[in-house]
Amino acid sequence: MDNSATTALSETALEAMLPYFRERFGNPSALYSYGQEAKKALEDSRRTVAEALGALNNEIYFTSGGTESDNWAIHSACTLSAKKGAHIVTSAIEHSAIIRTLEQREKRGYAVTALKPDRNGQITPEQLEEAIRGDTILVSVMMANNVAGTVLRTRELCAVSHKRGVLFHTDAVQAAAHIPIDTRALGVDMLSISAHKFHGPKGVGALFTRIPLAPAPYITGGGQEKGQRSGTENVPGIVGMAAAIREGVENLSRNTAYLTALRDNLIDHTLKIPGAYLTGDPSDRLPGHASFVFEGIGHSAHLIAMLNDAGICAGSGSACSASAKEAPHVLNGPWV
Ligand SMILES: Cc1ncc(COP(=O)(O)O)c(C=O)c1O
Repeated sequence: MDNSATTALSETALEAMLPYFRERFGNPSALYSYGQEAKKALEDSRRTVAEALGALNNEIYFTSGGTESDNWAIHSACTLSAKKGAHIVTSAIEHSAIIRTLEQREKRGYAVTALKPDRNGQITPEQLEEAIRGDTILVSVMMANNVAGTVLRTRELCAVSHKRGVLFHTDAVQAAAHIPIDTRALGVDMLSISAHKFHGPKGVGALFTRIPLAPAPYITGGGQEKGQRSGTENVPGIVGMAAAIREGVENLSRNTAYLTALRDNLIDHTLKIPGAYLTGDPSDRLPGHASFVFEGIGHSAHLIAMLNDAGICAGSGSACSASAKEAPHVLNGPWV
């Protein structure tokens, strides 16, 4: 059941990918027909990803996943706004891809304000407004939380940032293809996604940016991705990501209805257990996400082992972190 950690590759994504491992294996930078076929697949995929996010083709950069997109967004915003200041606002419940990157920035002299969520896991626009200073260059607050399941108020938070002239990035890794995303309506400047969270392959993602990236390339080399991120593109992975996001978006309302019913059933039954509490927002939460705290369990590994014996895969921390043994920082919030 732990589809927050990752998801199974969809049949549609697999079928779309297979030719690009075999007969259509060309390098998109090559000028002969094999290469140009791969190049076309790459640009068709870019269009599909852009359409799924309400974006333009040239606003999509392919990456190796959510972690890289988050790193890139932060480093690029810092370089672009170096003259303006060195203060960043984020939330205390971000994924390590954001937290660790901001820690690096702190070592380089940046000040970081990490806003604490309320008991539903929400960051309020008022809180954000108060935290923004004259030297704030970036706000990075996730769209949906991987541990508590809360869907945050991205549009409002972005509006507050823009009112104060500050760039807004959101980690939408848990949100993409699970809830509607329209980058134009949200107003966000940058947004990160990762294919393996929506039934695409692992090791591929995208960064949406409607602002120019920092002029110096993020990865230097052969000049792929408009010179910003060099390295031969992961064509099968990118094609798989495009097929998966298209499938996810096309089936969004049907999947949402189905998952919400399952989720609410699980929540209703689990909350009958004495000492069980729901974490995150009771209503503004991901359709397929339920998260609980159980009193008196001791170490969560015991509960995970018992559930595993019963054939149920549950997460006890952020599974995307290599050492998921400790209680995740997200659950040290006010709801516990
Ligand atoms: C919210 C969030 N951001 C970023 C990531 C990292 O993405 P990736 O595994 O593609 O590097 C994850 C999970 O892995 C996540 O849940």
